[in-house]
Amino acid sequence: MLEVIILGAGKGTRMRSSLPKVLHNLAGKPLIHHVIDTARQIGAAKIHVVVGHDADAVESAVSAHDVSCHRQTEQLGTGHAVKQAIPACRPDSTVIVLFGDVPLLTHHTLASVVEMAASGPVVLAAKVEDPSGYGRVVRDGQGLFARVVEHKDANEQERELNEINTGVLAATGEQLASWLNQIDNDNSQAEYYLPDVLGVAIREGVSVSVVTTGSDEWLGVNDRVQLAHVERALQAREASQLMAAGVGIADPTRIDIRGNVTAGQDVFLDVGVVLEGEVSLGDNVRVEPYVVLKNCSIGSGTLVNSFSHIEDASVGNDCQIGPYARLRPGSELAEGVKVGNFVELKNSYMGAGAKANHLAYVGDATVGANSNIGAGTITCNYDGANKHKTILGDRVFVGSNSTLVAPLTVADDGFVAAGSTVTSDIAESQLAVGRAKQRNIDGWKRPTKEPKD
Ligand code: UD1
Ligand code: CA
Repeated sequence: MLEVIILGAGKGTRMRSSLPKVLHNLAGKPLIHHVIDTARQIGAAKIHVVVGHDADAVESAVSAHDVSCHRQTEQLGTGHAVKQAIPACRPDSTVIVLFGDVPLLTHHTLASVVEMAASGPVVLAAKVEDPSGYGRVVRDGQGLFARVVEHKDANEQERELNEINTGVLAATGEQLASWLNQIDNDNSQAEYYLPDVLGVAIREGVSVSVVTTGSDEWLGVNDRVQLAHVERALQAREASQLMAAGVGIADPTRIDIRGNVTAGQDVFLDVGVVLEGEVSLGDNVRVEPYVVLKNCSIGSGTLVNSFSHIEDASVGNDCQIGPYARLRPGSELAEGVKVGNFVELKNSYMGAGAKANHLAYVGDATVGANSNIGAGTITCNYDGANKHKTILGDRVFVGSNSTLVAPLTVADDGFVAAGSTVTSDIAESQLAVGRAKQRNIDGWKRPTKEPKD
């Protein structure tokens, strides 16, 4: 059986934050969620999370993830942290320890650790250009693993070593329990260091295998500079995956994916696009600069112009949105709809070919096919206490600067004269004029300025 222990009890002092480190956000979710997801992907039968600093917050953040939490009441080091969870692991399980602040490790890499662990304890290392701050892997004369020395405890020669400990190690539950009882805190930080268990293994004559990971998987998050660095590394990975799947991206360093994106063929994403939650993009969707798409689906052939914001909405095929359009939750557009600049939609349906080209608020409304909402139109959906619906039939024309006071129904082909305040229903093909009649006054004398004394 494979069990995973994830460490998340540390405060993360170097973040200088009131939020526990493992709850800091990476690509739209807490650091520790990334690690839990990876643990799940390698088929962990049980996932243990060690919590301590602000334990309540961390526990509630992971509570929906089918993990068991173990409290480390004092943060006495990574070895001491693992000790809190080990009694809950089966002695014959393969136990992998992951750190909640090392979020980029892939399941492919961890799968090779699991595979190797079948024949003895394993540590995951990485050869890096700048090893400073990390524990170094010390090898013996034959090049075999000897021990890990922490940066703070390392002498000058050891600091030259550029093979680092990623923090990941694997052994059986029984081995870890026994070795953890044999480590001390006789070091510069007076902590019980987890990697010291590997030194104990060597002393007992058990050899330790080293699996090495490449690229930037090993990056840890200890401060905000590293968090930003890890974010860009993850975004670069996401962008590469999308491009490999055929999505065109103007600049992979200027795109942010904070969720899951599915995309059809020949989608193009311009600079500054942010995709959050579950986003699906049909074939030939084009997204212009600085657009936010959150939990939405965009139909094939649709163009989303710059600076638009779309959330919890569904947009049909061949629509044109923006620039500067806002589709709020519950917006649903059929095919060929146009929603132009400074138009806000909320909880509303727009039928095929309907248009709201400029400056309108459409809330709690159903707009029939090929209807046209003029500039400055507002659905007055809220009476101060309750929300009401506005229902417009097909081919309705709403002239500019009209206020549609809900509840209101305009039947097919209804026509609202510009500047109307409409309070009662309009029947099929009727024209409604809801404004003061224009009077032209002859001989009108303009006011003149009174002389100043
Ligand atoms: C640790 C390793 C180091 C490795 C590096 C990789 C040790 C002693 N050092 O150093 O060899 O190169 O990670 O990123 O293991 N934690 C607890 N309880 C504690 C202390 C820490 O749960 O008492 C958790 C933290 O929340 C964090 C993880 O363990 O998720 C690592 O702790 P951190 O203090 O960041 O260790 P590093 O100094 O980075
Ligand atoms: Ca760390």
